[in-house]
Amino acid sequence: MSWIKIGLLVLGAYVYSAASQERRCRCLSTDPCWPSLDTWNQLDASLTGGLVPVYPPAKPCHGDNINQTECQIVHDRWFDGYWRSDQPGALISMNFEILPNETWGCQLNVSSSWPCSQGNLPTFAANVSNVADVQKAVQFASEHNLRLVIKNSGHDYIGRSTAADAFSIWTRHLNDITLHDAFVPNNTNAAPTTAVTVQTGVRLIDLYEATAHKDLVVVAGAAITVAAGGGYIGGGGHSPISPIYGLAVDNALQFTVVLANGEVVIANDAMNPDLFWALRGGGAGTWGVVIDVTLRTFPAPNVMSSVLFIAAHNDTKSFTSVMTKFIELQPQMSKDNFTGYWYGFNKTLAFLYIGYDLNKTEATTRMTPFLNFTASVSGPPPQYIVTEFPSWAAFLETTWCPGGTCPSEGGQTALLASRLIPLDSFDQPDALGSLLVDISSDLDVTGDTMLGHLVAGGEVVRKDPDSVGVNPAWRKALWHVVLTGAQFEFNATAAQRKKAGDRVTKLNSKLIDFTPGSGAYLNEADIQEPNWQQSFFGSHYDRLKQIKNKVDPHHLFICHHCVGSEDWDASLNCPAK
Ligand SMILES: Cc1cc2nc3c(=O)[nH]c(=O)nc-3n(C[C@H](O)[C@H](O)[C@H](O)COP(=O)(O)OP(=O)(O)OC[C@H]3O[C@@H](n4cnc5c(N)ncnc54)[C@H](O)[C@@H]3O)c2cc1C
Ligand SMILES: *[C@@H]1O[C@H](CO)[C@@H](O)[C@H](O)[C@H]1NC(C)=O
Ligand SMILES: *[C@@H]1O[C@H](CO)[C@@H](O)[C@H](O)[C@H]1NC(C)=O
Ligand SMILES: *[C@@H]1O[C@H](CO)[C@@H](O)[C@H](O)[C@H]1NC(C)=O
Ligand SMILES: *[C@@H]1O[C@H](CO)[C@@H](O)[C@H](O)[C@H]1NC(C)=O
Ligand SMILES: *[C@@H]1O[C@H](CO)[C@@H](O)[C@H](O)[C@H]1NC(C)=O
Ligand SMILES: *[C@@H]1O[C@H](CO)[C@@H](O)[C@H](O)[C@H]1NC(C)=O
Ligand SMILES: *[C@@H]1O[C@H](CO)[C@@H](O)[C@H](O)[C@H]1NC(C)=O
Ligand SMILES: *[C@@H]1O[C@H](CO)[C@@H](O)[C@H](O)[C@H]1NC(C)=O
Ligand SMILES: *[C@@H]1O[C@H](CO)[C@@H](O)[C@H](O)[C@H]1NC(C)=O
Ligand SMILES: *[C@@H]1O[C@H](CO)[C@@H](O)[C@H](O)[C@H]1NC(C)=O
Ligand SMILES: *[C@@H]1O[C@H](CO)[C@@H](O)[C@H](O)[C@H]1NC(C)=O
Repeated sequence: MSWIKIGLLVLGAYVYSAASQERRCRCLSTDPCWPSLDTWNQLDASLTGGLVPVYPPAKPCHGDNINQTECQIVHDRWFDGYWRSDQPGALISMNFEILPNETWGCQLNVSSSWPCSQGNLPTFAANVSNVADVQKAVQFASEHNLRLVIKNSGHDYIGRSTAADAFSIWTRHLNDITLHDAFVPNNTNAAPTTAVTVQTGVRLIDLYEATAHKDLVVVAGAAITVAAGGGYIGGGGHSPISPIYGLAVDNALQFTVVLANGEVVIANDAMNPDLFWALRGGGAGTWGVVIDVTLRTFPAPNVMSSVLFIAAHNDTKSFTSVMTKFIELQPQMSKDNFTGYWYGFNKTLAFLYIGYDLNKTEATTRMTPFLNFTASVSGPPPQYIVTEFPSWAAFLETTWCPGGTCPSEGGQTALLASRLIPLDSFDQPDALGSLLVDISSDLDVTGDTMLGHLVAGGEVVRKDPDSVGVNPAWRKALWHVVLTGAQFEFNATAAQRKKAGDRVTKLNSKLIDFTPGSGAYLNEADIQEPNWQQSFFGSHYDRLKQIKNKVDPHHLFICHHCVGSEDWDASLNCPAK
């Protein structure tokens, strides 16, 4: 090794430790170092949308002077995903609104003596609506060493968009959509392509509407109130069309990001390419505040079909044989351009599969081997409906918005665990079928479910695993399987919630054992994922961590089981000892 190299290593170690030394416990709203009201007022005045207080969604129904109009709105919209995703202090999975050690914080339908605590929610949020607002908020957090979170739609299944006594950057009002006929990423000679630039807070339903009516498709998720450019894109983004065109991150051409030092940068193949790589699947909330992302668009298919299938059995043998056949035929269904979602519960297999660019005749023909098989299984005959849609827009409108309303739920409890199931596991349909039936029967005891996603395979596995930062386990996977563990009541104690979480963690360990070397999708995963660096990032972890330490040396952006978070203690407020 040359002296120059050694010199660089020493210098590197010095710079690194200098940076680490500047990491100190965050200043919380309970600490004397928390900025004074005057200082907050100055920030408030400098932001277009001001600073907003963050409070639990049920707060208007508590206290001495209840405004009945406001409280009624809370009652009416408690389970409404649109309403929740529009509040700086409401989360889609409400169990993350409270502290892990608390029995339900601030609730509806409880006696007036029930206290309304701030729980796990931040103290103030910057209501940002342009780049300059974001820069000011980031600089403020950095200057005052605050615990910082970014809250977008609040869909995160691990509660990463909230933290107690913290300062929040609320991105819902970064909401523009721009369509391009011929987009060329800055400073590149890339061939022009059709694309759409979405600001981080745009809802998927709005992105779908803006593109589908122009006969364009874009790779985006199934939940319409998820934000297009926040956690979804940062984690990788699976979609009902990812098997056709790849994950959302495989179609991201460029990002605009505000970094921890307040600088606004473009990340693409030519500008900040390392950051660009990390932003594509290395997890959100880690690199900076994403302002916008530009995604490739594609011509819409001429026709779409869906297959809705339900086989309810009352004996394990029939359920197992249907599951096993379903597994055996998955690789072929994937080649046949089916994608979609299935449920396993109460000895029932139910699925909604999409035949991409297939008419009804083709979809039915391609499904026939499975339908014929299930018709021969003892028990009640399965039910299915094959539907054809004349356009992509018609498919979306009917499927996402039945009867003209586009429902989106929120306000439930959720603790998940999940696994990416590799293609080679489908070579053992008997073993995988028995395992899933076994796990499903355990979930039945508490009324939980197994949700399978046929969103990998196809183009997802054809991409170079190292082309983007996302978990390379995606490049070998066909299914993403999620186990839910959510059956605890609003007033469950911390211990009861822990029990529900432990239960699903334990069940998931069977899937982990069955798929050694695979991983989990960090956006729909277990909050207590064992060996999470390997599971969420695989062989990409070390490179991601290097990029993290380069772009955010003081770790302003830290979240649970995000890259670099092992350098922090469990509260994420102090450097790890
Ligand atoms: C009902 C439901 C259905 C879902 N369906 C799908 C699906 O089909 N496909 C799929 O891939 N996923 C799906 N998800 C998972 C979804 O991708 C994650 O919940 C994701 O974290 C949501 O991101 P968000 O920004 O909307 O939510 P938030 O909870 O607001 O944010 C999530 C994380 O991203 C960070 N973040 C948000 N905005 C920014 C920003 N501008 N810059 C930097 N960091 C940011 C937050 O700090 C947090 O860490 C679903 C989730 C739910 C609840
Ligand atoms: C946030 O800012 C936006 C845009 O500036 C504004 O329309 C909205 O009313 C603000 N929201 C709150 C709660 O202050
Ligand atoms: C109650 O809240 C509504 C909606 O925010 C507001 O218009 C009204 O003035 C409030 N009433 C009182 C008495 O404060
Ligand atoms: C819960 O944890 C917080 C710290 O996260 C602590 O301040 C509080 O006292 C705990 N509450 C209970 C009831 O244990
Ligand atoms: C509150 O009670 C009403 C009436 O029983 C019920 O309809 C509503 O779903 C409850 N809300 C919550 C959040 O539990
Ligand atoms: C990126 O390209 C666009 C369109 O050509 C241009 O308007 C913009 O100024 C460029 N930005 C940077 C930072 O180069
Ligand atoms: C299902 O099976 C159980 C146990 O074999 C039996 O008790 C029950 O009656 C059956 N239910 C139906 C709807 O057939
Ligand atoms: C499970 O299915 C049986 C019929 O096989 C039905 O009788 C029962 O109600 C179902 N249980 C649940 C919880 O849905
Ligand atoms: C699947 O879809 C892709 C993209 O539209 C197409 O190229 C391919 O021919 C289709 N395959 C089948 C078997 O229909
Ligand atoms: C369905 O698609 C196939 C293949 O493109 C075509 O041959 C057939 O004519 C179509 N059938 C109908 C009813 O449109
Ligand atoms: C499915 O069953 C039908 C009617 O029993 C039969 O005509 C057809 O050949 C079968 N198709 C396959 C692919 O097994
Ligand atoms: C929670 O509330 C239910 C009624 O909704 C009650 O039956 C149950 O005992 C309560 N549990 C606890 C732990 O307080």
